[in-house]
Amino acid sequence: MRVFVTGASGWIGSAVVPELIGAGHQVVGLARSDDAAERLGAAGAEVRLGTIDDLDVLRRTAADADGVIHLAFKHDLAFTGDFAGATAADRAAIEAFGDALAGTDRPFVIASGLLGVAPGRVATEVDGVSVADDAAGPSMRHRNGHLTVALAERGVRSSVLRLPPTVHGDGDNGFVAALVAIARATGVAGYVGDGSHRWPATHRTDAARAFRLALEKAPAGSTLHAAAEQGVRIRDVAEAMGRHLGVPVQAVSPEDAPAHFTWLAPLIGTDSPASSTATRALLGWQPTGPGLLEDLDRGHYFA
Ligand SMILES: NC(=O)c1ccc[n+]([C@@H]2O[C@H](COP(=O)([O-])OP(=O)(O)OC[C@H]3O[C@@H](n4cnc5c(N)ncnc54)[C@H](OP(=O)(O)O)[C@@H]3O)[C@@H](O)[C@H]2O)c1
Repeated sequence: MRVFVTGASGWIGSAVVPELIGAGHQVVGLARSDDAAERLGAAGAEVRLGTIDDLDVLRRTAADADGVIHLAFKHDLAFTGDFAGATAADRAAIEAFGDALAGTDRPFVIASGLLGVAPGRVATEVDGVSVADDAAGPSMRHRNGHLTVALAERGVRSSVLRLPPTVHGDGDNGFVAALVAIARATGVAGYVGDGSHRWPATHRTDAARAFRLALEKAPAGSTLHAAAEQGVRIRDVAEAMGRHLGVPVQAVSPEDAPAHFTWLAPLIGTDSPASSTATRALLGWQPTGPGLLEDLDRGHYFA
């Protein structure tokens, strides 16, 4: 397939591109800078210059492709307080892709998140996420997942791949890397309460394979979970960080969490395990990468 990938130069995207090419697909990657264009070209992808706000570029490139994987997200806005702006841009891009792909039955896969899908119990693929009208923060993004699933009614083979907050691996710039940076800066590897909260986890290479399999196989309107591990206790993560950084492992009270964990404070205390049983059965996805604790013990997060 000729596959248009947004966010192809990002951390997960740069694993998705070789995964697709290795399976015999052609990749057209969206690049918003010369540096990203150069890296995409070196990886064997064709480059389309533009940003996710260039809706005409998105529509035209999608119309020329056999499928689309949408990974770009304005993390720069989201992590500096404008989550609404980031999700609005994402929505506009998804609408543009929907217009380009309507009636084609071509695959359209987007990235979403597993954190908070069903707090306190194991989330499954059938769990919907209702988003309050006045929602702020990461939960707002689930509306874009609903929009994507609904594109199935317009003749798009759409699917939403929910990722663990802890997609991990060398070069990670996400949640685990942020927790390591906080432990380093504060001199404490912290957890909230008794640290029994669980987060699912997946190695980056397994996430990349899940995107390829979703593109190739997911039925229209699917919600999928790329959770290799159902739930890793946050206290175990803190203990691994404490060991590697040589800092004490300590409970942080909910009152002190905002000062200690900054933007991660509302998330770190969320118990959010997730199953991927249905996704494995549907796609034949079989994770092979290291688990999160094993990956932490490889040392690259602390180099
Ligand atoms: N990593 C995780 O643990 C995790 C967990 C849940 C969900 N996700 C989602 O998975 C997707 C990929 O995540 P990631 O970890 O690979 O993130 P990342 O490394 O920050 O990559 C984001 C990508 O989006 C591109 N981008 C940002 N703003 C753009 C704009 N205005 N126009 C065009 N492209 C733009 C970036 O381009 P540049 O390369 O030019 O910067 C980059 O290629 C995202 O949707 C993310 O929210 C990730």
